[in-house]
Amino acid sequence: MDLELTAEQTLLRDTARELATKEILPAAAQIDREHRFPKEIVARMGEMGLLGVAVPEDFGGSGMDTVSYALALEEISRACASTGVIMSVQNSLVCDPILGFGTDAQKKRWLPRLAAGKALGCFALSEPDAGSDAAAQRTTAVRDGERWVLNGTKNFITNGPVADVVVLFAIGGQDAHGQDGRAISAFLIPTDTPGLKLGPVDDKLGIRGAPSSQIFLEDCAVPAGALLGQPGQGFKIAMRTLDGGRIGIGAQAVGIARAAFEDATNYALQRKTFGQPIAEHQAIQFKLADMCTEIDAARLLVWRAAVKKDAGLRHTTESSMAKLFASEVANRAAKEAVQVFGGYGYLTDFPVERHFRDAKITEIYEGTSEIQRLVIASALLKA
Ligand code: CAA
Repeated sequence: MDLELTAEQTLLRDTARELATKEILPAAAQIDREHRFPKEIVARMGEMGLLGVAVPEDFGGSGMDTVSYALALEEISRACASTGVIMSVQNSLVCDPILGFGTDAQKKRWLPRLAAGKALGCFALSEPDAGSDAAAQRTTAVRDGERWVLNGTKNFITNGPVADVVVLFAIGGQDAHGQDGRAISAFLIPTDTPGLKLGPVDDKLGIRGAPSSQIFLEDCAVPAGALLGQPGQGFKIAMRTLDGGRIGIGAQAVGIARAAFEDATNYALQRKTFGQPIAEHQAIQFKLADMCTEIDAARLLVWRAAVKKDAGLRHTTESSMAKLFASEVANRAAKEAVQVFGGYGYLTDFPVERHFRDAKITEIYEGTSEIQRLVIASALLKA
């Protein structure tokens, strides 16, 4: 076992860290306060190859591995969790399924633009009545000659309001028994397609710079070439995509946890009570030691899942473990960081209350903690 990063991985991490420290961190509080999509930062990430990290160079990407992606995403999320999830959706939930299941024409059309940040994508699986139970889709796709006609509503679509293309799931296509219209199919649809409309931008507790909204489909007709993968393959495409996506959210959570830990440590070294910096008090030291240990453990779980993905091995369980643990670590770290700051931690003048709000979503999206436990338990019982 070798835990040393390669020169290439280190370079990408350091490049992302520099962008995060110099350009993203100074803007993070304002992005949150104003619920502002950080357009200029997304453009910079595109220029620097952070929006198509694992997309092969032939398709305009950086041609790097999932470990590199996780390293870069942790750095970006340490500065701004909103920017982190924008990056995560683009890489994991849009580029990855196009790469894995797209036709050559779909790859050539979308990947170079997505990797360069010239186009943004989103992933529409959730519906008002299909969140944790992703198979309970109600959106329909009906084959009509050479086109599909889609109707339905998608919920909480991160990047939806700024996306040029959506990876979207609907009931339609043959099921395992060859019957039409029963299975889920995946589609790749430009968001300016007539019949596709956006709801208002969601007003959220955290990750306020990452806009999300509903997507409505009203007799939205797309050509046969919009199908992603085979008809009826959609559920597996969604699940395999989320196997990768959960590595991204794990890395985002590690970044948020690190932000909480680093801010708390710096504050503890400066703030004095009873005549000495609070970092000298054992009560504070224990908190910092726990945070630091848990962050390392979470990062190692994320790396393990990334290594398995890069080896082409099934990584469903490892991704769920990484996402589950890292998201809970982020929430504990953020809660303890607020405690270290005391009354100041409760004020919006300091960044820890933002970390506290941002951390929560990592236990919810891309599968709640309860769903991750189900996935893990199902694999262990089968084994
Ligand atoms: N890879 C490949 N195939 C998989 C798979 C995986 N990871 N997981 C399941 N499958 C296959 C199964 O093998 C099975 O195949 P067969 O029919 O051939 O046997 C089929 O899919 C059905 O599997 P299950 O019976 O396990 O399916 P289920 O209906 O019980 O659901 C679930 C499983 C894990 C609970 C799933 O519904 C799930 O992951 N729910 C959470 C949804 C989620 O994460 N949504 C996130 C939305 S996106 C988002 O949040 C983005 C954002 O905002 C940033």
